[in-house]
Amino acid sequence: MKRPTWTINWVDEMSVGIPEIDNDHKHFVFLIHELNRSITELREPSEIKLRLQVIVNDAVRHFSVEERLFKEWKYPNTEAHENIHTLVLGSLNSMMNDFVPYGHDSSWIDIGLRIKTILMHHIMVDDMVYAEFYRNSLKTKPVSKEDSVSEAALLEMVKS
Ligand SMILES: [Fe+2]
Repeated sequence: MKRPTWTINWVDEMSVGIPEIDNDHKHFVFLIHELNRSITELREPSEIKLRLQVIVNDAVRHFSVEERLFKEWKYPNTEAHENIHTLVLGSLNSMMNDFVPYGHDSSWIDIGLRIKTILMHHIMVDDMVYAEFYRNSLKTKPVSKEDSVSEAALLEMVKS
């Protein structure tokens, strides 16, 4: 049976307008793409688990970068955003801890989709909140509605 497939690529709607963070986010998109490729190409469970671990490790590093920037910016929603990071890492870690070499295609597809959905939602919804703060307070440039991520763009990225 052919496995259902999806792809993910960086689009400009994902940009928070901060090159250091955008570069990390582009790397996340690449890692998710590679994880999905391992799943759809029926690679060994050990390779898939390694790719999951790379994503978790990179999320830990990247979230600490964001949190350092929040302190520099005196970002008022720091605590709320850090709590979201804790939840995201909890979800990723529980996927790692529950990892078993699934025998059913649907389970593999499900884990790839869950990771894609969690991280893309974080980039395109949660991170856009501090992006707006950054633009407003540090660039003193008002954010127009057109600058915000569109719901259609978000749906495009998370749909399977
Ligand atoms: Fe974040």
